[in-house]
Amino acid sequence: NIALADIAKQVGTPVYVYSTKGLLDNYKSFAEALSGVDALIAYSVKANSSLAVLKTLAQAGAGADVVSGGELARALAAGIHPAKIVFSGVGKTKSEMQMALQAGILQFNVESRAELHALNLVASKMGKTASVALRINPNVAAGGHAKITTGKAENKFGIAIEIAKTAYEEIRALEHIKVRGIDMHIGSQIDSLSPFETAIDKLLELVDELNKSGHNIQSFDVGGGLGICYGENNPPPLPKQYGTMVKKKFAGRDMQIILEPGRAIVGNAGLLISEVVFVKQTPTKNFLILDAAMNDLIRPALYEAHHAIIPLQAQNKSPVVKYDIVGPVCETGDTFARDYQLEEVKAGEYVALENVGAYGAVQASQYNTRPLVPEVLVKDNNFSVTRERPSIEQILAQEKIPDWLIEK
Ligand code: LLP
Repeated sequence: NIALADIAKQVGTPVYVYSTKGLLDNYKSFAEALSGVDALIAYSVKANSSLAVLKTLAQAGAGADVVSGGELARALAAGIHPAKIVFSGVGKTKSEMQMALQAGILQFNVESRAELHALNLVASKMGKTASVALRINPNVAAGGHAKITTGKAENKFGIAIEIAKTAYEEIRALEHIKVRGIDMHIGSQIDSLSPFETAIDKLLELVDELNKSGHNIQSFDVGGGLGICYGENNPPPLPKQYGTMVKKKFAGRDMQIILEPGRAIVGNAGLLISEVVFVKQTPTKNFLILDAAMNDLIRPALYEAHHAIIPLQAQNKSPVVKYDIVGPVCETGDTFARDYQLEEVKAGEYVALENVGAYGAVQASQYNTRPLVPEVLVKDNNFSVTRERPSIEQILAQEKIPDWLIEK
């Protein structure tokens, strides 16, 4: 219920804007599909780690999937109970393990035998026991782009399914590790249910074998990965359909189900508003030069991702023009869209890039010393700046000149 142009005018551009209703609607679709079963929706913090976004989801009941000490601190600061936090990632450091053990998180999703032994050592020094799930790599291909597929044997993630049983057996000798469950995550921006189903089936078979050999697998973490509709792709299943599939797979099993959705919760709840700096005509192209760039939203440059772009002042009257929509950074890769049809747009007008709630602001940098893009959360008729744009002075103040360079 707020004009985006008003936000842009007050906060300045570029600016990320998130919708509380969008976040909650997505979260609720998962939660409702899984009602009546023991399920934890551990929102994957990496997709959008804004404290305000985390707190919105926490108040709706979400837990968190974190992959660093920093994300753990964010989840705790947003009020997410440690008993709802899982810790994933291939390279947890000793100090991150300590932090998580101290906080008393629900489980570590362990990705290698080396990590098991390191965790056992850290826990023993603290006189604690770590609850773990082993992340098993089911060797199932999935995911929208080679850079984000994770479930294949050649990827760095998880423990190969062939040696899963040996790894679980190894835990018996580790006094400070307790088996809690099993875990998978096969990729991101997955547009059909079938790879999830194949992987879940493979792991459920393994669960049965493990339980038969005396383990007690109480939780099954299905990871994240459900895709969203970016406009050019086949629309992926909705969170509700995915949740229903998950619930069915586990029917009759007495296990906690953990989900780690990221993109499907925040992706379509965010826009990036940008002002057109110049319209530049060359003999072959019309360039729309925005004040947003690849440092603010790197997905198009990094993954050839498509984000629909809409003019905020659309009149539905002016002729359709083909634009290459680019940022001001000195790289050809700083291109959001090529030969993109839009109503005519003029310098000084605003455009919105759609579906940037996930992996947008979190992947931003200050390349070209462009201040980190601010974030705004909208609720009903209100909005709040949840992260300010730093001033150039603040950016420079973070650095230090070595003594030998200081002129006396
Ligand atoms: N759990 C684990 C262990 C993960 O590694 C990820 C994402 C998720 C959950 C959440 O996945 P989602 O539901 O959001 O697909 N930067 C890339 C995506 C990287 C995904 C990394 N892992 C992008 O912009 O497309």
